[in-house]
Amino acid sequence: MTDKMDITPWEVSGELKETDYGRIASEFGAKLIDDKMLDRIREVTGELHPFLRYGIFFAHRDLDLILDDYRKGKPFYLYTGRGPSGKMHLGHLLPFMFTKWLQEKFGVHLIIQITDDEKYLFRDIDEAEIKKNTKENVLDILSLGFKPDLTHILIDSEQADSLYNHAIRVSRHITASTAKAVFGFTDSDSIGKYFFTSIQAVPAFLISALKGENVRCLIPYAIDQDPHFKVARDVIPKLGYYKPSSIISKFIPSLKGGGKMSSSDSNSGIYLDDTPKEVRKKLMKYAFSGGRDTAEEQRKYGANPDIDFAFNIYRMLEPDRVKVDEIYAKYKGGEILSGEMKQLAANTISGFLETLKPAREEAARNYGSYMFNAEEFRRK
Ligand code: TYM
Repeated sequence: MTDKMDITPWEVSGELKETDYGRIASEFGAKLIDDKMLDRIREVTGELHPFLRYGIFFAHRDLDLILDDYRKGKPFYLYTGRGPSGKMHLGHLLPFMFTKWLQEKFGVHLIIQITDDEKYLFRDIDEAEIKKNTKENVLDILSLGFKPDLTHILIDSEQADSLYNHAIRVSRHITASTAKAVFGFTDSDSIGKYFFTSIQAVPAFLISALKGENVRCLIPYAIDQDPHFKVARDVIPKLGYYKPSSIISKFIPSLKGGGKMSSSDSNSGIYLDDTPKEVRKKLMKYAFSGGRDTAEEQRKYGANPDIDFAFNIYRMLEPDRVKVDEIYAKYKGGEILSGEMKQLAANTISGFLETLKPAREEAARNYGSYMFNAEEFRRK
């Protein structure tokens, strides 16, 4: 990789500040979600998901076309994914939580692509470990409670027959120089890496290809995945399908602040199988705090909740808006100390993780029934 790139799907270099997101979105050519767009979403869904209200999902590409079509009664489908490189942390779950809400509000099909081939090409992990991660990650994702009859897991290595012919068509339109410019590849990167983006593009038009008619696709993801879909949007119309639309989130920062919560440093994030004790310990020991150095100063000057890891996670997971506003005001006003904020966040996180367990067990019993089946969509 060259060091020119700020963000690629495999590398986020440097500290990402709140103020960087607008610049990155405009460099990538995505639009910011403004108040007008929020109103349009609210008109259709009846309410705004907290991730929209708090600006966590902050940018989009052609979301207006999805909403226009939906209002006219034309269906669309959702597509998102996960690269099974290891255990999942809370950051990885964020696009899935939001996707679940979209699925509920719109009642549409969802493809979840599991890019085990990608992790083989980009990470130094053996195939057995990737297989194990795949199963565990799929169960983690399903533990959020997606609708079984509308949710389709597409594992690249296992369902290559649904992907390969289409990926070849995509790859014919992507030159090595585009891949270098967009992803920062160099001559020493393997040719597998150059090809991979073609595979990630396929689910964005797969339903249209199977049905033999154009169906719009909306893809939720965090900004690191945008380079894939920037390329896909150029290529897919050349194959006769709609450009996919997307809705894009910021990163949950690492516990220590800055960058993104990473899966390579186990203390940089909260994992879905962390025990309440581990969650508490990580927050107390590592979480970046917006509080003051001493309790006395904190009481006097208050904290900055906006940059506080514990507060931000608490806000993401606490459904009671009034409670969140109250905590914000108290923390900012110096009534709550950093340690108390961390304890509150730890309780909320552990409570949330606990709620995932029964659905995860249920998903494990029905694992096979979630697998993508092309026949279900093929024109009869
Ligand atoms: P992966 O496994 O790296 O990440 C899964 C999803 O989580 C997002 N993400 C984050 N969101 C918030 N905060 C973070 N710290 C954070 N870290 C990761 C990613 O943007 C992603 O949405 N190649 C993909 C898998 C994939 C995919 C897709 C993702 C295939 N098709 C379509 C999104 C949409 C990957 O390795 O994601």
